[in-house]
Amino acid sequence: MDKIIIKGAKPLRGTVKISGSKNSGLPILFAALLTDEPSIIENVPRLADINTTVSFMNFIGKKTVQKGSKVFTYQSKHYGHVAPYDLVRKMRASVLIMGPLIARLKRVDVSLPGGCAIGARPVDIHLDAFKKLGAQISVEGGYVKMTAPGGLKGTDINFRFASVGATENVMLAAVLAKGTTKIINAAKEPEIEDLADVLNKMGADVKGAGTKLIVIKGVEKLKGFKHSVIPDRIEAATYLLASAITKGEITLQNVCPPHLRAVIDKLKKSGLSIGERGNEIAAKWTKELKPINISTAVYPGFPTDVQAQWTALMCLLKGKSKVCENVFENRFLHIAELQRFGANTAIDGKCVNIDGVKEFSGAPVMVSDLRAGAALVLAGLAAKGKTVISRIYHLDRGYEMLEKKFKKLGADIRRVKSA
Ligand code: EPZ
Repeated sequence: MDKIIIKGAKPLRGTVKISGSKNSGLPILFAALLTDEPSIIENVPRLADINTTVSFMNFIGKKTVQKGSKVFTYQSKHYGHVAPYDLVRKMRASVLIMGPLIARLKRVDVSLPGGCAIGARPVDIHLDAFKKLGAQISVEGGYVKMTAPGGLKGTDINFRFASVGATENVMLAAVLAKGTTKIINAAKEPEIEDLADVLNKMGADVKGAGTKLIVIKGVEKLKGFKHSVIPDRIEAATYLLASAITKGEITLQNVCPPHLRAVIDKLKKSGLSIGERGNEIAAKWTKELKPINISTAVYPGFPTDVQAQWTALMCLLKGKSKVCENVFENRFLHIAELQRFGANTAIDGKCVNIDGVKEFSGAPVMVSDLRAGAALVLAGLAAKGKTVISRIYHLDRGYEMLEKKFKKLGADIRRVKSA
């Protein structure tokens, strides 16, 4: 298994190009299943989760190829209706296959994804919504088996929580349902708007994406599309935090600043100098930063996917702060690892109390999940001495060319192969 080795305590300086969004690219790839026509998706990051999705599409019967940052899907005729455990267990977002396949085949069998390091992550909101749309659902042998012999029928669906995945899954199904579907308390994340853009390019009628109410009028058929995926706001936030934690100066290119508003506002409040121009953000450390509390929330609130990285920064600022996680129930696995660098933290229910320390010293640490891994990279970049990060396959799921990008910014970082 590969490891990342960092020799830290160097301010990072320079320019970094942010990749396309993983969490937008995944549902958009699945959207290509809604048509038999070919499609082209641009600005797709080269990541393990995208590879998994490409394999998945090919397995289902849609020839799909990634060449650089473009993904091509080809003419298709027949799809299989089974999403096996071996594919679903690799990536929870695989459950997004439900929407397109139930819409097109009127049946789908998907292995239940199970929990993961950051929580139980059930799919009840997805399944309740499909039931409302007219699907019959049973769970057998670890699989959700769903049929809709008469096709799906549009209806009002009121989510108990604004789930990103459930909103996407319902959109992917309702575009081909009979009649109108209203998603009430829909997720408002930029990735939802990006998916709606794609569906509308395909000939769907989706209105209200980016608000709490999405209205979808079903159509008979959808066509192929060409689309460029939005920039990855979580990768961008991670690099902004890298300039803060290493006391450096980093310019981000290919970003959408409004998508990062909550993170930018908190960083500015902390004292980081940040300027925005078009699709660039320039961040510069000019003075000691102040600790700032955060509490994660659905968009446009502070993203749960930046909570771990924020925590790493707070651990190094003089004074006390509190970080609260409200989206997932168990997203604090990085805390014990940060303590290995010297962090002074205590978990109290869904919050972490932090008392800043003067410096981190490098340590061997282990990644538990993607964003926890990003927090450990940031900690390693700030720490004096050598940090060895293992289980970095989690990082490969979500950060394109991580070592290359950090190296270009002046970091002493390398990947080593180990048995
Ligand atoms: C998406 O996951 C992202 N993944 C996650 O990014 C992100 O953390 C999350 O949204 C929240 O922003 C992708 O887009 C591929 P949810 P998703 O459904 O769709 C509970 C990363 O690091 N819930 O909004 O799975 C759930 O357990 C990843 O890039 C139910 O209870 O998130 C969680 O506590 C990690 N029942 C909360 O809702 C359901 O049926 C939010 O989940 C569905 C969700």
